Amino acid sequence: MGAKLNVGVVGCGYWGPNLIRNFNSLHDCNLKAVCDLSVERLRHMQSLYPHVEVYNDYTRFLEDAGLDAVVVATSVRLHHPMCKAALLAGKHVLVEKPMAASSAECDDLEQIARSKGLTIMVGHTFLYSPIVRRIKKIVDDGDVGEIRYISARRLNLGLFQKDINVAWDLAPHDISIILYILGENPISVNCRGGANVSKNVHDVTTLWLGFSRNRSATIHSSWLDPRKTREMTIVGSKRMIVYDDVANQDKIRIYDARVESPPHYDTFAEFHYAYHYGDSYVPYVRQEEPLKIECQHFIDCIKTKTEPISGARQARNVVRILEASSLSLARDGAPVDFAVAPAKPAETTGQAPAQVAEVVPIANVATNGDGQSNGHGRGSKSPATGRSRKAKTSGTTKSAARP
Ligand SMILES: NC(=O)c1ccc[n+]([C@@H]2O[C@H](COP(=O)([O-])OP(=O)(O)OC[C@H]3O[C@@H](n4cnc5c(N)ncnc54)[C@H](O)[C@@H]3O)[C@@H](O)[C@H]2O)c1
Repeated sequence: MGAKLNVGVVGCGYWGPNLIRNFNSLHDCNLKAVCDLSVERLRHMQSLYPHVEVYNDYTRFLEDAGLDAVVVATSVRLHHPMCKAALLAGKHVLVEKPMAASSAECDDLEQIARSKGLTIMVGHTFLYSPIVRRIKKIVDDGDVGEIRYISARRLNLGLFQKDINVAWDLAPHDISIILYILGENPISVNCRGGANVSKNVHDVTTLWLGFSRNRSATIHSSWLDPRKTREMTIVGSKRMIVYDDVANQDKIRIYDARVESPPHYDTFAEFHYAYHYGDSYVPYVRQEEPLKIECQHFIDCIKTKTEPISGARQARNVVRILEASSLSLARDGAPVDFAVAPAKPAETTGQAPAQVAEVVPIANVATNGDGQSNGHGRGSKSPATGRSRKAKTSGTTKSAARP
């Protein structure tokens, strides 16, 4: 496909204008039209981009604007109907995260796109971040050793949503980064949180993801925090990485720090942890706007008919984890376990991140009424029980000598 692709963006609220700006800046596409219900937003867009057609009716936008591709930046509940209408009208689709309000909706969109030979891609922007890609390379090169756990914090005051909780709003970023870095899906998910401002809409959540080989990740998301925080710590057996996305410079720092327990010991007195404190350093990463890379990738995937890095399969896995988090929240934090299908060979050109296995929820561990696992099946390895065992061990640490 040599000609410029005609692109239209629906949703000119908070995030849409960033997509509009980036698509307008790309050489091999033509930002042809934008759509919003708000005439005021359309007027504003027209003042910035006078050459762009404006529509306040989505059906007319799809039928009359002569588009090859549609970018959906509306609220999550509209993702499925709007994407479906666009695909059925023969348009390629880029939809904001999360892909849809349920995994069944994601499957439906993937199936329609596949049957019509169209590209569907999801705006998991951080997979296009040079910083995140650098972290992935550092991990894959073995510089941090075996990953032990990842902890992520994404906090701010607002923006409060009415139809989704904070996990659905903010955690998709962290989930997508964690799956990308670890190259696999969790085997267990649980989530607790609080609805402090709006009844029934959780504004603070903590997700726990359990992975194979005893690895785990926690994701703390909040709309109720005075400081904007976007932080991730990746703890490896050899080194640790701290990624601070809010920092102007030095967004990643690698710490040569680790703790080892002795391979064997006979008496309690012989037991000493070995603490290693080394240098820390900041790798150079060339800054480039991730969203611009994402928008270009969408155009490239359409032109070359390749599967996007953040394609439907990857994005559906994120939605499945969010679904599991809602289930767990409703059951006071009870774990939701997944069956993990074997990883399939990459269907792509090699641009894709390590393939993650398909996630299939299999069971929800019954609770004993206070949110604790009752110890059935995989639930016996629940975070709750695992944590308490560790807490005891770390008590020992305090009495151990620090070198
Ligand atoms: N990738 C990121 O970093 C990132 C950041 C923020 C938001 N987002 C995602 O972007 C999407 C939009 O979020 P937002 O914060 O911009 O929402 P928003 O509410 O600010 O904007 C949505 C816009 O859609 C318009 N709209 C609603 N119904 C419509 C209809 N039927 N036809 C045409 N227009 C309609 C509204 O008028 C509004 O202007 C969400 O999926 C969100 O998760 C992604």
